Amino acid sequence: MTVPTTSPDHDANGGGTGRPEEAVLRPHAEQAFAAELAALAAADDRPRPPAWRLSPWAVTTYLLGGVLPDGTVISPKYVGPRRLVEVAVATLATDRALLLLGSPGTAKTWVSEHLAAAVSGRSTLLVQGTAGTAEEAIRYGWNYARLLAEGPSAAALVPSPVMSAMEQSAIARIEELTRIPSDVQDALITVLSEKTLPVPELGIEVQARQGFNVIATANDRDRGVNELSSALRRRFNTVVLPLPGSEDEEVDIVTRRVAQLGTALELPPVPAATEEIRRVVTIFRELRSGQTTDGRTRLKSPSGTLSPAEAISVVTQGIALAAHFGDGQLRPHDVAAGILGAVVKDPVADRAVWTEYLEAVVRERRDWAPFYRACREVSG
Ligand SMILES: Nc1ncnc2c1ncn2[C@@H]1O[C@H](COP(=O)(O)OP(=O)(O)OP(=O)(O)O)[C@@H](O)[C@H]1O
Ligand SMILES: [Mg+2]
Repeated sequence: MTVPTTSPDHDANGGGTGRPEEAVLRPHAEQAFAAELAALAAADDRPRPPAWRLSPWAVTTYLLGGVLPDGTVISPKYVGPRRLVEVAVATLATDRALLLLGSPGTAKTWVSEHLAAAVSGRSTLLVQGTAGTAEEAIRYGWNYARLLAEGPSAAALVPSPVMSAMEQSAIARIEELTRIPSDVQDALITVLSEKTLPVPELGIEVQARQGFNVIATANDRDRGVNELSSALRRRFNTVVLPLPGSEDEEVDIVTRRVAQLGTALELPPVPAATEEIRRVVTIFRELRSGQTTDGRTRLKSPSGTLSPAEAISVVTQGIALAAHFGDGQLRPHDVAAGILGAVVKDPVADRAVWTEYLEAVVRERRDWAPFYRACREVSG
């Protein structure tokens, strides 16, 4: 029970739960970037496909960043080849759906959310694919209390996100498509090819309106879990999101996202930690590719994926450590534990890989001596 209080002290701390002044932890793309989307819509004089909020050019600019004629700066969301984004956006303007494929942590979910936000102004019509995803998540379900009381009726029908998107000219997102059992995946075939969803219980069908499309993501490491049927695959254009091509690109991605996350989490500011970020990226790239940057030493790769996403969380964790327990500067020992945690997923095999890397590579780099010592400390 909440006790009313007049104590200013209590008020200052907010009192009960659900304080309105506390921002949501993670706003949707269309909320977080509402100002950019509005500026793009205002500046956008190119033709828009039916029901699109923006033209394909403006959607691409939203994703890759740019400067509008009135000087508004659009921040880059995705760092990668422009052509990939153009193909993805163009696909959404056709009758084919879009499949974003790639290794874990290559921004598939991120790109899908931003595309949906830019094209239809909402990114929340989302189906999370798992082995337990049932047909209702793609077609429709029922409110059983109403169904029992009234029998099948439009009011008792619970539309899936896909059905809602069809009705509302919007983009539906399906995450981890290949984790969904094949017979459930097949429910999408009629939707994608006929653009209709029959409801036999009511003797009706829902026909998709212009502007409807689907963006699915799938992890290429999951391949073989539930292979996409060829019938379904033919209804998708596939865009493969690559791991960052160069070290500089990866440093750029990590730096940007760490800054955004730090602001969102309201972490105390820690000065740009370029040196530590570059080191994390170098280590991850070397372990991932199985050789040192200079190509001289061959390395074993650990079992986990060391994607930009892991680098982002290692650095963010390091900043939290530095801000709350350190001297406010990101130091080698703030990232050492995080790196160890990211690399060593399997306690035996990965630890051997890490120890070998530490002794053969890290130790040899003279200017990495403080980092080497920090790693030795946390490795125990
Ligand atoms: N090329 C990139 N440009 C911008 N951000 C990137 C890039 N690659 C990775 N990221 C960042 O990495 C984080 C993780 O990305 P995301 O969750 O979208 O990966 P994913 O491909 O969906 O991974 P998973 O297969 O594990 O679901 C996001 O914060 C995203 O901003
Ligand atoms: Mg994902």
